[in-house]
Amino acid sequence: MRFLMVVMAAALTACSAETDPATHDDMHDGAGVVREVAESVNDYVDNFSLLDHKGRAHELYYYDDAPAIAIMIQGNGCPIVRNAWSDYSAVRDQFADKGVEFYMLNANRQDKRSTIAEEADNFSYDMPILNDETQLIAEALGVTRTAEVLVISPSDWSIIYRGPVNDRLGYGQQRAEAKEHYLADALAAAIAGKPVETRIRRSKGCIVNLPETAKVAEHATISYSETIAPMLAENCASCHEEGGIAPWAMNDYSMIEGFAPMIREVVRTKRMPPWSADPHVGKFTNARGLTIEEKQTLVHWIEAGAPRGDGPDPLATRVSDASDWPLGQPDLIIEAPAFDVPASGIVDYQFPTVLNPMDKDIWVKAVTVVPGDKTVVHHALVGSSEKVTKPGEGDYQDVFDNYLIGFVPGAESYIYPESTGVFVKAGGEFRFQMHYTTSGRATTDKTKLGLYFHDTPPKFPLRQQVALNVALGIPPNAADHKEQAYFEFDNPATIYMLFPHSHYRGKSSVFDVLYPDGREETILSVPDYDFNWQHTYSLAEPLDVPKGAKLIHRTLYDNSARNLANPNPDRTVPWGLQSHDEMLYGSFMFRWTAETADNPVHDPLQFGIRQFYGFADKDMDGKLVRTEMGGRLGRAWDNGSMKQADRDGDDALSFAEYYGFRKAQMQRRRSSR
Ligand code: HEC
Repeated sequence: MRFLMVVMAAALTACSAETDPATHDDMHDGAGVVREVAESVNDYVDNFSLLDHKGRAHELYYYDDAPAIAIMIQGNGCPIVRNAWSDYSAVRDQFADKGVEFYMLNANRQDKRSTIAEEADNFSYDMPILNDETQLIAEALGVTRTAEVLVISPSDWSIIYRGPVNDRLGYGQQRAEAKEHYLADALAAAIAGKPVETRIRRSKGCIVNLPETAKVAEHATISYSETIAPMLAENCASCHEEGGIAPWAMNDYSMIEGFAPMIREVVRTKRMPPWSADPHVGKFTNARGLTIEEKQTLVHWIEAGAPRGDGPDPLATRVSDASDWPLGQPDLIIEAPAFDVPASGIVDYQFPTVLNPMDKDIWVKAVTVVPGDKTVVHHALVGSSEKVTKPGEGDYQDVFDNYLIGFVPGAESYIYPESTGVFVKAGGEFRFQMHYTTSGRATTDKTKLGLYFHDTPPKFPLRQQVALNVALGIPPNAADHKEQAYFEFDNPATIYMLFPHSHYRGKSSVFDVLYPDGREETILSVPDYDFNWQHTYSLAEPLDVPKGAKLIHRTLYDNSARNLANPNPDRTVPWGLQSHDEMLYGSFMFRWTAETADNPVHDPLQFGIRQFYGFADKDMDGKLVRTEMGGRLGRAWDNGSMKQADRDGDDALSFAEYYGFRKAQMQRRRSSR
């Protein structure tokens, strides 16, 4: 790995206009301070992942088969960017069918996602604008001015061109027509596999204020002992400890120093700490993640050589706070059957079940999962059911019959919201969904579930429901395939927890609430979904929604070959329990606002029918028309056997009509039995 050293002028005076290609020597700005950018010509770009102004995630190395990637540095209020946009977008259109990727990148301290989105709207920037909130990416790319374009070659991730789009723009003046088309020439060269003639050109633009580039010397004084080690202990060590799920333990400075480049990578690509929610959307009690400032400090310290400095080493003396039962001795302990985890390879999800030993009903107020072997249990979801699964019959969604807890390392206990509880009927079974990752060592896992009971029934029963879509059909090679389903609340409700689930092709997921007045609000966004980390998102503020509100779960699927986890891009992917098929499965926990334990307002039949209606009604207008009716329903509609269901004769089924029809159908079936 190489780091760029960009020493930049603090004085924000604009450069005098020059049209000549820049050389190392002439990189002086108006204040006479030397800026070295020539170094960067041959530099390589390390991977990064950034969210754009719409909250979508983009990882650089995803595009490793593109002939080139262009990134224009953008900044709000900079006339030169605004003026250069038409030329930049024209080059994009010119190369539309050549597979070149085009981006903008905003690293301005003064710009926020919302203001960048406004600027994009006002100036019709119809391109992802990567929002480099930490400035770490811009620093490493050697960014100095907006309107500069970087062209990266994925063949070796080098920067093959750095400069303006063309020679049209100067400060204050501009030509009517460009004479030289630097960017187009560079891209043409990249596509032809030829070197770019002049790889670095002085660019006109507004200076990007990157104050940390002037403080490189100070970064070497960041204290490992007082700043870095405590940060890692707090955010990482619960997994990165001896016997923890992470493959290496943060147990002293030498480990950190050795893994420093890798830590820099996982922070820049947002892989660690594992947590997938967009920090701009919602607040969650179980959120992880470093703040912008922490990321800057950690990466700057690493880029300064990860110096040990003085002081004690808190990681060397850290005591693991893992204890079997952090909430105390449970009222009931359920032990999953032993499972042999091999030393290597991928282990399919396991669905063990255990008969419920209780002969009376219980109200659960809190749960803890204790993995038998913490080095292999990547996640465990647990629920209960009144039914008993036959051997080999279990699947992913079984745990959601009556969901109890989603465990990922570092989040082993779940105390249900105040005055709520989950009802578990006597008998039936407890169901686990176990995801094991191999650790290089064969082992046997025996995971335990601890349940804590309410002595008397809690005021409010917690419920769980799913917005799902079993009618998936993801076309071959589609990189951005959209699916959705909604659940409409037929009574006022309070939402507590969200859980998006898809498989290897899941790319991003959101939960939106559509209110009866037409207002729509995103309450969770997972821009970079990772099948390996099945996070539960607990809302810091429970959300009250009125009757008629729709909770919409939307997921994008990446069925292209660029998705490394994709088992087969050439297939139309249906709904299926196996991970090589797909799911749209948005589970959530809530309570009916008016429901109490002794006054249930719950209609299980309606609950199930709403689930179906919520994905069949694709345009969400509350009317099922023929084009939204698949399979059996469509056939029944065509042969007239549903005619009487359409009571108002508008050639569509409202929910009430469909529900009435299904209810009557079920009653007929029951009475004929
Ligand atoms: C919830 C548990 C957990 C937390 C918290 C966590 N990690 Fe990890 N880490 C893992 C696991 C598990 C892996 C192995 C790869 C995987 O499964 O994603 C890993 C891998 C890594 C790697 C890559 C090494 C490799 O496997 O190639 C680095 C570096 C890393 N973590 C750094 C960090 C840092 C820095 C933090 C805190 C800011 C952190 N991790 C927090 C669980 C965790």
